[in-house]
Amino acid sequence: VIAFFQPKLLAGQQVLVTAGPTYEAIDPVRGITNLSSGKMGFAIARAAREAGAQVTLVAGPVSLPTPRGVTRVNVKSAQDMLEAVMQHAPIATIFVATAAVADWRPASAADHKIKKDGTGQCPQMGFVENPDILAGVARSPRGQSGALFCVGFAAESHDLLAHAQAKRARKGVPLLVGNIGPATFGQDDNALLLVDEHGTREMPRAPKLALARQLIAEVARRTRAAA
Ligand code: CTP
Ligand code: CA
Repeated sequence: VIAFFQPKLLAGQQVLVTAGPTYEAIDPVRGITNLSSGKMGFAIARAAREAGAQVTLVAGPVSLPTPRGVTRVNVKSAQDMLEAVMQHAPIATIFVATAAVADWRPASAADHKIKKDGTGQCPQMGFVENPDILAGVARSPRGQSGALFCVGFAAESHDLLAHAQAKRARKGVPLLVGNIGPATFGQDDNALLLVDEHGTREMPRAPKLALARQLIAEVARRTRAAA
């Protein structure tokens, strides 16, 4: 019998993960969402749990099974997601934001299904910007002190490195993980570019779970060094 023991790199850590898209209602039957599958975030939640952490996964509408041992909180809108994150952030020690949060929501959602009026006139819709969940958490006192280590994600269609570096600074996070999207949406593979204060590290194309495990090892190294 070969017994092997996985090192519990995140024992004692409380990991909070956001994943999937958000859904912003237009009326009771329609809304705005995006093509995020949630696979990367779910893989990270699973890898964090395997590494011995207590894990809370705040998930937008996706049809994925909950990783074993992970506490899942289902949300729809960005505002719901913010509320769930704010509830769990005070006890979290690591926050990984993989969710593709809708940047805007309709300024007001109709109470009733919007009907065609028969004249060919289209409804006019105004938008308001959603709260930036990651930036809010990262700029909180626990985010700033490093008591809560924050990791951001960025899917970019071009100029990945430049955008990832700029986003890292703008969000105020120590670690920003870039990937080229939307080609990876829904895929089981991904390739990542880690950007921190020292520079960059590429994680070549691999299954999302393998990348998630590597990323968790990187996060563990950084949070241990900080402790
Ligand atoms: N994020 C968030 N709340 C938002 C928007 C983004 O928490 N309202 C998080 C995402 O989960 C991700 C990171 O911020 O970890 C970057 O998201 P991204 O959409 O790439 O950045 P934005 O600031 O929205 O910029 P843009 O979409 O214009 O590139
Ligand atoms: Ca965005």
